Amino acid sequence: TDTTRELLLSRIKDVQDYPKPGVVFKDITPLLADPEAFTALTDALAELCVKHGATKIVGLEARGFILAAPVAVRAGLGFIPVRKAGKLPGATLSQAYELEYGTAEIEVHAEDLNAGDRVIVIDDVLATGGTAGAALELIRRAGAEVAGVAVLMELGFLGGRAKLEPALRGAPLDTLIAV
Ligand code: PRP
Ligand code: MG
Repeated sequence: TDTTRELLLSRIKDVQDYPKPGVVFKDITPLLADPEAFTALTDALAELCVKHGATKIVGLEARGFILAAPVAVRAGLGFIPVRKAGKLPGATLSQAYELEYGTAEIEVHAEDLNAGDRVIVIDDVLATGGTAGAALELIRRAGAEVAGVAVLMELGFLGGRAKLEPALRGAPLDTLIAV
């Protein structure tokens, strides 16, 4: 609802010139510290998981973990971590993606996602869409189906939605607030 969106927006702090000059960082720590706002966020994301018929929830390290884990508990679904390369002990699938400068790599335990799973990806921010796009690749390579991507906020001026569009292949992208 609009009330929820206003509450969430009011708990996100703009930090000027972080991590470098000219960048405005969206700090979600005030939201996490406010149980009413964090609960409202968890409920809203869990509702989307139910709506889209998800059977598993992928959280993206690191900030996505904080949001996705309580959503998984609330929705009664399993939580699957997608981690930065080199952190998972078992057999993994890896996917590289573009950063502003250079590339990064994320991984998932191959056995955690299988045919028949309908997976929602949860993260805090959609910026360029590179991270979410790589997560969708991992899900499909594991043989699972993408039920959607749900993020707290979308940085509209970076065009992540358009960039992610082909990778979504018709699956829904839900962003609770656009900034
Ligand atoms: C940030 C943010 C998203 C991602 C969005 O993560 O939490 O995961 O960038 O950017 P993109 O749409 O351009 O890919 P980051 O890897 O910077 O750090 P984190 O470990 O704190 O989540
Ligand atoms: Mg992140």
